[in-house]
Amino acid sequence: MDRIKVSLLGSTGVVGQKMIKLLEHHPDIELVKVSASPLNAGKKYRDAVKWVEPGNIPEKFGDLKLVSSEPEDHRDVDYVLSALPSEIAESIELKLIKNKINVISNASPYRMNNEIPLINPELNYNHLNLIENMDTKFVKNPNCTSTIMSMPLAEILNLDYRSINLVTLQAISGAGFTGLPYMSIDDNIIPYINGEEEKIPREISKMFGYIDSNKIVNKTLKMYITSLRVPVKIGHMGIMNVELNEKIDVNDLKNRLKNFRPLRKFNNLYNAPENPIVIHEENNRPQNIMDTYSGMEVHIGRVEYKDNNLRLIILGNNLVRGAAGITVLTLETMKEMKLI
Ligand SMILES: NC(=O)c1ccc[n+]([C@@H]2O[C@H](COP(=O)([O-])OP(=O)(O)OC[C@H]3O[C@@H](n4cnc5c(N)ncnc54)[C@H](OP(=O)(O)O)[C@@H]3O)[C@@H](O)[C@H]2O)c1
Repeated sequence: MDRIKVSLLGSTGVVGQKMIKLLEHHPDIELVKVSASPLNAGKKYRDAVKWVEPGNIPEKFGDLKLVSSEPEDHRDVDYVLSALPSEIAESIELKLIKNKINVISNASPYRMNNEIPLINPELNYNHLNLIENMDTKFVKNPNCTSTIMSMPLAEILNLDYRSINLVTLQAISGAGFTGLPYMSIDDNIIPYINGEEEKIPREISKMFGYIDSNKIVNKTLKMYITSLRVPVKIGHMGIMNVELNEKIDVNDLKNRLKNFRPLRKFNNLYNAPENPIVIHEENNRPQNIMDTYSGMEVHIGRVEYKDNNLRLIILGNNLVRGAAGITVLTLETMKEMKLI
């Protein structure tokens, strides 16, 4: 097959910019169109974007003219990748689907629809099989925190556990380019993120669900979340405490997490990290400034087991593992599964 042609909605936002970087040299995916709000449509990408990524705007995208998010502007691509704000994504994405334009989206509407896959590739790439029966393909990515925090659960949910308690410390970039005024977050911690504490367990229960009659049946989870916004730019951290009903060998669990490589069987996944989970033994890891650089790995440290309680500290890059990276990896996985 030729390269997969894609367009990008929300290309000037923080997730959109990360996607631009990931697609700059992609061997199998060709970004042919970029889109932003009606305010910026018609402008050159370089004139409209407030670039916050390290390095320059990729030369080949800088001169592209921003198009609208209307179906007429996206008929000639194989997939539209959406990094639209959730508030407006529902109607725009639905209109694209109704016009037979395939969509992979980061936005929250339809994430919990049990006929639409919610993909964190290492955990549930098999859910992509649902799109085989769709006339127009619609795939969702989970929320950034759900994506990162769900990774160790691939092993932990196999244990006999009573409850999972998770406190998340979430970066400012998770709220988007205009999300939080500097004055409200500088030198401050905000002890609440609207909607987050409900979203995380709900989305994780869908990711770990199974397919029955072309629908996803969610897994029942006992998970309790507290979400805080903290003054760091990139990287969501989670402090996870798991109350267990069984005794475990913590080194054995660490080894299973280290060796968690479910996508090994596919060949051309350019955004699949060699080790999706990195285990740190040093007490001062993971840290945002050291461990969010490459982006697709989830870093875990302080793994301890005491009195039937398992404790881990989890960290991931919300813009890469939490958004742009999994969108691109999902598309790569779909190609490997011959679903494109
Ligand atoms: N940030 C994260 O860590 C993260 C992680 C996972 C998922 N997500 C999800 O990804 C999506 C994008 O998030 P973000 O953080 O990148 O947001 P953002 O920085 O606020 O970017 C929003 C983008 O949408 C465009 N836009 C705004 N209004 C529009 C309209 N009416 N029509 C068409 N385009 C419009 C903006 O264009 P202009 O520049 O022209 O305004 C910009 O390109 C959201 O649904 C978010 O929930 C974000």
